Amino acid sequence: MKPVNTEASSAGPSGNPDLAIDIDRLLQRLADLAAIGCIEGTEGCARLALTDEDKRGRDLVVAAMKDLDLEITTDGIGNVVGVMAGQIDGPPVMCGSHIDTVRTGGRYDGNLGVLAGLEIIEVLKAAGVTPYRPLAVAFFTDEEGARFAPDMLGSLVYVGGMPLEEALEIEGIDGPTVGAELERIGYAGSSPLPAAAPAAFVELHVEQGPVLEAEGITIGAVESVQGISWQEVTVTGQSNHAGTTPMALRKDPGYVAAACANFARELALELGAPQVATVGRLELHPNLVNVVPASATFTVDLRNTDEATLQDAERRFADFLEATAEAEHCTFETRELARFEPVLFDKRVVDLVADTADALGHSVKRMPSGAGHDAQMLARVCPTAMVFTPSRDGISHNPAEYTAPADLEAGANVMLHTMLALAAEDTDGIIG
Ligand code: GLV
Ligand code: MN
Ligand code: MN
Repeated sequence: MKPVNTEASSAGPSGNPDLAIDIDRLLQRLADLAAIGCIEGTEGCARLALTDEDKRGRDLVVAAMKDLDLEITTDGIGNVVGVMAGQIDGPPVMCGSHIDTVRTGGRYDGNLGVLAGLEIIEVLKAAGVTPYRPLAVAFFTDEEGARFAPDMLGSLVYVGGMPLEEALEIEGIDGPTVGAELERIGYAGSSPLPAAAPAAFVELHVEQGPVLEAEGITIGAVESVQGISWQEVTVTGQSNHAGTTPMALRKDPGYVAAACANFARELALELGAPQVATVGRLELHPNLVNVVPASATFTVDLRNTDEATLQDAERRFADFLEATAEAEHCTFETRELARFEPVLFDKRVVDLVADTADALGHSVKRMPSGAGHDAQMLARVCPTAMVFTPSRDGISHNPAEYTAPADLEAGANVMLHTMLALAAEDTDGIIG
């Protein structure tokens, strides 16, 4: 068995410069997982959290973990962790991400980070390399938040950011609770929560935005994640006949919702980048051509890397909603779905990612993440950073999501050597 070099190495990025992932095997794993819940005629898939499709995806990944002889644990929120033993016991260097998708998901979002982790372990096993510290690959429940809000639910509970009991009570957009669905699909595990902190966490993910491609850069060393504010607004008015009700006498929640959607966009434009605003879900009742709606329910997603500006956006949106509903003689209620402040990753892990990419001959850019990620939760408990690979046309949350094999390979190799370097750390390195 080849011991890992625990010294900082001049020979290569991790002291094992010849190790490299097998891109064909990684592509095959991505294809196999994408076949579960695949959206016909596309490369994408629909595996909303804790659905039957999610269960089948989980079963596939767990079977692969078993094939690699990992020690597998499942906790009460359904997070699954597979551990490869190291030369010493103790907290592992962990990678991972999520395998749930939005309803119109691509095959890379989340899945890449999990399957690249399996690939890395397969490479190490084949080479007979036992890392100094254990390595772990995790997939966290309901990262997307598309069925059960908030997003990053599994990793939030993992790090103690929400009590398990509270998380299990959350109702999905289609009715059932997280707890009931976990039981139903057989992933309500017993591993303790909050979980013990890993030694470090690194997440490989597609950028899901246009920056790397536009600048011709292969690797993003992610320094931060922007703050996320999600709310659901329900406006109630007076359902009435569309032909006979004069405009001045209407109490039209559909109008209020439309005005709010318009305002959110103008607000983001006025505040300027990186402020973004999205109304992604809008339901009118009874949703008929000739009926002034009785109610409108819509979601608002506001994000910014700057917490003060994000709070300003929230305040201004709230003021607009109140004034517009009042002027239309409607009432409204709001419900917070998710609220996470911006997160800064560990500078030393970010540096390690950037240096590793550089040592492997890849162009690298330090950058923030526009999307939410499990890594932002893990950053609460251990040194954490992320590796981004380019997304074609910046498209994601769309079956057309695509990252070229050469970029996937580069990202997975940066992960491999970053993890090996972290796993070689003893007491005086990043993991002190
Ligand atoms: C999760 O994918 C999010 O950023 O919405
Ligand atoms: Mn993701
Ligand atoms: Mn996503």
